[in-house]
Amino acid sequence: MAGRVQSFAPGPSMLPDEVLSEYQASVGQFRDTGLGILELGHRSGQFEEMYESTVAHLRALLAVPDGYEVLLLHGGGRFQFTMLPANLLPEDGSADYIETGHFAAAAAADAAAYGRVNVVASTRRDRFLRLPRAEETRSTAGATYTHYTSNNTEIGTQFRKLPRHHGIGWLACDASSDLLTRRFDVGAHGCVYATSHKNLGTAGVGIVIIRSDLLAPVRKLPAYLSYATHAQASSRFNTPPISAIYVMSLMLQWTADGGGVEAMEKGCTAKSELLYGLLDDSDFYSPLVAVEDRSKVNVTFAAPTPDLEAAFQEAAAQRDLVGLWGYRKVGHLRASLFNAVPLTAVEKLADFMDEFARTNRPRLPAESTSR
Ligand SMILES: Cc1ncc(COP(=O)(O)O)c(C=O)c1O
Repeated sequence: MAGRVQSFAPGPSMLPDEVLSEYQASVGQFRDTGLGILELGHRSGQFEEMYESTVAHLRALLAVPDGYEVLLLHGGGRFQFTMLPANLLPEDGSADYIETGHFAAAAAADAAAYGRVNVVASTRRDRFLRLPRAEETRSTAGATYTHYTSNNTEIGTQFRKLPRHHGIGWLACDASSDLLTRRFDVGAHGCVYATSHKNLGTAGVGIVIIRSDLLAPVRKLPAYLSYATHAQASSRFNTPPISAIYVMSLMLQWTADGGGVEAMEKGCTAKSELLYGLLDDSDFYSPLVAVEDRSKVNVTFAAPTPDLEAAFQEAAAQRDLVGLWGYRKVGHLRASLFNAVPLTAVEKLADFMDEFARTNRPRLPAESTSR
């Protein structure tokens, strides 16, 4: 599509041209309904069919085992910080939270409104620039569940293996920024949730994959807050985010056509290796995260000074490379490599980074650094 820039934003992500074109056409006319997608009713057969096929597609791509419910809810990822403990953290019980970033910390803080939260591992003292080692995690005997964030979007760390947790509890995962970017063992979890605007389309949906035996809430809840309500109503208890679910259905089709999760994983590996290789060889940029904890989805790095980081973003924007800001509490620079970001865009970014370093290195005072 003419006039488009390449976005490396942490979300909403850019979307593939094919998805945008199909969405645009559906605004005028969705299938043979005589209505546009923005006008489609959620009780219509056409929506029902689209909803069912979206859920089936997601199940197939993620190899969701039997015995799990898939819900598509309002509220994005963040609403799950509260919905999960409201449903599943008993008032007299406790849950273990692994604190690896700002979203992970926010999830733990919200859960504390419902029951005891044990922060069983934290890398806060290291500004979250690494993940806790298994031996640093002290699980609590009897904890109902252990919550972790598989990919810390803001820092650029990603769990390679499931975190250690106490045998009797189940694992809960915020997979907002890496769901569908790699193979993922849903069956090892009691509940996995994610927001939609990174690898699953646009903002507006919270994807919840939950073991069926966990649907009944541990406390009396207003109907809307209960997973059981939404499961019974096939996520149509109230009017769902129809248009965002449609974008998700298009993204899932695009993901399947592109070879599914394994192909996406290869893509993320190739894109991130290109950037980490450049950063590791550079005497201008420095990667923020230790090699063993680096994310394949969000690559964070520093330039030698804050002024140069601002100049980097301005110069990049002139080349149509945008969204490279660091998270507001972390600063520096970040390239988010969600599935829809093509390798060619990352190659263009790498060329730009090389050139920017060559042009600006000579102007630096000796020993200057922004870290
Ligand atoms: C890891 C993680 N969790 C949760 C969220 C919150 O998602 P939302 O803004 O859709 O509520 C984000 C958003 O960027 C995220 O990266």
